Amino acid sequence: MKQLHKQSSINHRRDEEMSMGPTAPYSPKTLKHPRSLPIPRSINYLFKEQRLLFILVGILIGSTFFILQPTLSRFGPSEPNSFSVPRSFSSGLPQRDQVSDFAQYPPINRGKLGRVPAGIPRKRSRIVVTGGAGFVGSHLVDKLLDRGDDVIVIDNFFTGRKENLVHRFGNPRFELIRHDVVEPILLEVDQIYHLACPASPVHYKYNPVKTIKTNVMGTLNMLGLAKRIGARFLLTSTSEVYGDPLEHPQKETYWGNVNPIGERSCYDEGKRTAETLAMDYHRGADVEVRIARIFNTYGPRMCLDDGRVVSNFVAQAIRKQPLTVYGDGKQTRSFQYVSDLVNGLVALMESEHVGPFNLGNPGEFTMLELAEVVKETIDSSATIEFRPNTADDPHKRKPDISKAKELLNWEPKISLREGLPLMVSDFQNRILNEDEGKGLK
Ligand SMILES: NC(=O)c1ccc[n+]([C@@H]2O[C@H](COP(=O)([O-])OP(=O)(O)OC[C@H]3O[C@@H](n4cnc5c(N)ncnc54)[C@H](O)[C@@H]3O)[C@@H](O)[C@H]2O)c1
Repeated sequence: MKQLHKQSSINHRRDEEMSMGPTAPYSPKTLKHPRSLPIPRSINYLFKEQRLLFILVGILIGSTFFILQPTLSRFGPSEPNSFSVPRSFSSGLPQRDQVSDFAQYPPINRGKLGRVPAGIPRKRSRIVVTGGAGFVGSHLVDKLLDRGDDVIVIDNFFTGRKENLVHRFGNPRFELIRHDVVEPILLEVDQIYHLACPASPVHYKYNPVKTIKTNVMGTLNMLGLAKRIGARFLLTSTSEVYGDPLEHPQKETYWGNVNPIGERSCYDEGKRTAETLAMDYHRGADVEVRIARIFNTYGPRMCLDDGRVVSNFVAQAIRKQPLTVYGDGKQTRSFQYVSDLVNGLVALMESEHVGPFNLGNPGEFTMLELAEVVKETIDSSATIEFRPNTADDPHKRKPDISKAKELLNWEPKISLREGLPLMVSDFQNRILNEDEGKGLK
C-alpha cells in the first residue's frame, strides 16, 4: 500500500511538472478551482468546458427526432423482434433492398383479428401469401385485395405465373417479391397464408428433394417469421396426408395410410411434416396457426398439362384429344371450385380454430363420371383412352366436412356441373395462345 501511495504521488508530481514547465502550452487544467470551494465535484465537472450545453443540445436533438418519427418509438427495447423490412413496389418488380416506411401503416394487429361484428368496418390487414402467383394463391390474392387488405406475394415462379397476377400490378396495395421460401425472409405483416409448394404430381415429382425442402425448410422459415412478428399463420396442407385411406369419407381425426418411401412421399410426407411443424410452433412457441387440408380443387388459372385430372380432361377436350383415364377409371375424387376453397381459407384464417379442417366438396365422382361431365360441358364427341395407373394413386377420396360446417360455418356452394363451364373459357384462351400452351412464362 505504501509503495502504491508513493507511486501515485510521484505520478501526480510529474503531471504537475509537465503542465507547469516553461515550454508547456496553455492547459485548462491549470484553471482548476481550488478544492476548498464548497461546490460538489460532479456539478463542477458539468459546468466546465460547456459540457452542460452539449448535453442539453443532445437532448433537444434526440427529442426532435422522436417527435418527427413517432412510429420509431414502437421499436423500443420491449420489442426485441423489430427489424427493418425489405419491401417492393406494387409495380410487380421486386425491390427488396428498400427499407420499409412503417410510418405509412397503422400499427399491425399482431394477428388477433377474429371475426368483426356486422356494422363495424374491418381493420385493413397486411398479409403475405406465399405461392401467391399459383392457381389457388392468385384467387386468394384477388379476394384479399378486393376486401381492402394490403397483400404481399412471395413466389419463386416454379409453377406460378406473373400472368395470374398481372391485373393487380397497378394496385398500390399489392406487392410481388420473387423469393424462394427455403431462404428466410423478413417482413412485417399480420397474417401469413403459406401456400408455396408445387401441388400437382408432375411438378412435385420433378425434383422431389426440392419439394421436401420447400415443405420443411419453407414452412420452418415462414413459421419462424410468424413467431418473430406475432403474425397468424395458415398452412395449406392436403388430403394427401390421408394417403390411400382406409376410412371413407375422411375425417380430420383419421391419421392416414401413407407410403413413406414412395414416389409421392416427397409431397405427402412433406405436408405431414409441415403440419407437425405448425402444431409444434403452436404448442411450443404460441404461434397462432391454422391448418387447412385441401381436397382436389379446380378452376381458371390451373396450370395446363400439369397432370391433374380436371385440367387434363378440360385441356384434352378443348384440343380435341382423347381424355386419358389412368387405371380402370373407377377411383373416386371430389372436386371443389376454387372460389369455395378461397372462402374456406379466409373463414379459417379469421376463425379462432386451429384445425386441421378438411376443405373440399363432398360430391364424389369416379374418373369415368368426371370424363362424362367434361364431355357434356365441352365436346360430346370426345373419346376416352385408358392408361396404366400411377404408383400409390389413392382409390377413393371424399372429405367429411362436418367440422368445417359446424365451426367455420363454411361449405362449398358450386357443383361440378356449375364450376366446369367457369374454367373453360380461360383454358380456351390460353390454349389458343401457343406460348402459354407450351408452358412458357
Ligand atoms: N389445387 C389443389 O387441388 C390442392 C389440393 C391440395 C393442396 N393444395 C395446396 O395448395 C397450395 C397451392 O396449390 P396450387 O394448386 O395453387 O399449386 P400451384 O403449383 O399452382 O401453386 C404453388 C405456388 O407456389 C410457388 N412455389 C413453389 N415452390 C416454391 C418455393 N420454394 N418458394 C416460393 N414459391 C414456391 C409456385 O411457383 C406456385 O406459384 C399448395 O400448397 C398445395 O399443396 C392444393
